[in-house]
Amino acid sequence: MSLANLRKDYQLASLSETDVTSDPIEQFSIWFKQALEADAAEANAMSLATVNAAGRPSSRIVLIKEFDQRGFSWFTNYDSSKGQDLALNPQAALLFFWSALERQVRIEGHIEKISVEENDKYFQSRPLGSRQSACASQQSQPIANRSLLEEKLNTVVNEFSDHPPRPEHWGGYRLVPDRLEFWQGRSSRLHDRIVYTLEPDGNWVIGRLQP
Ligand SMILES: Cc1cc2nc3c(=O)[nH]c(=O)nc-3n(C[C@H](O)[C@H](O)[C@H](O)COP(=O)(O)O)c2cc1C
Repeated sequence: MSLANLRKDYQLASLSETDVTSDPIEQFSIWFKQALEADAAEANAMSLATVNAAGRPSSRIVLIKEFDQRGFSWFTNYDSSKGQDLALNPQAALLFFWSALERQVRIEGHIEKISVEENDKYFQSRPLGSRQSACASQQSQPIANRSLLEEKLNTVVNEFSDHPPRPEHWGGYRLVPDRLEFWQGRSSRLHDRIVYTLEPDGNWVIGRLQP
């Protein structure tokens, strides 16, 4: 098998300036719904890219939990590597790739923390095991082996039983977008790219980028 020969020609759909809605959140909502309907694998998984104080980027997958006119949100550990990046540089980029639809969505903007009330509400809605793990794990910190991690979990289970409290360092972020790009794969790499940019007056301007 030659990696250089691995390629797919995209022919499913097209995207034009007149196809999209004037509001990018509404456009995202249409595409997200279509991804769910198409059974796109883990359609709610998105790559989150952050940059640390030294300007070094890193990315990882997180699950989107909500989106609306305020932005796109997910939950995590505020003390994690990504949390430390965002504390120093509260800007980030999100990326969805829905292979089943030959689509990519890129979202960029600044970051805010979700309110304590929303954090509590979402934490309580999670399965018990997930809540216990959130209490046990100092996300992104090294640990010598799996057994120590399981010991930490046992300690949490013994201490709090079915009612582990939300750790203060566990909560949500919201990315408030100022740029979104909708990419539709086309044949022979002549893809469609429609981009929304937020102007200082609060209006979204729609443009097209070369593939
Ligand atoms: C499908 C999938 C979903 C994930 N969802 C989350 C999530 O919602 N929140 C989270 O903190 N980590 C999630 N992770 C784990 C992250 O990718 C990452 O390992 C973790 O957040 C630590 O990242 P950091 O060290 O860069 O902070 C997910 C991983 C995968 C593969």
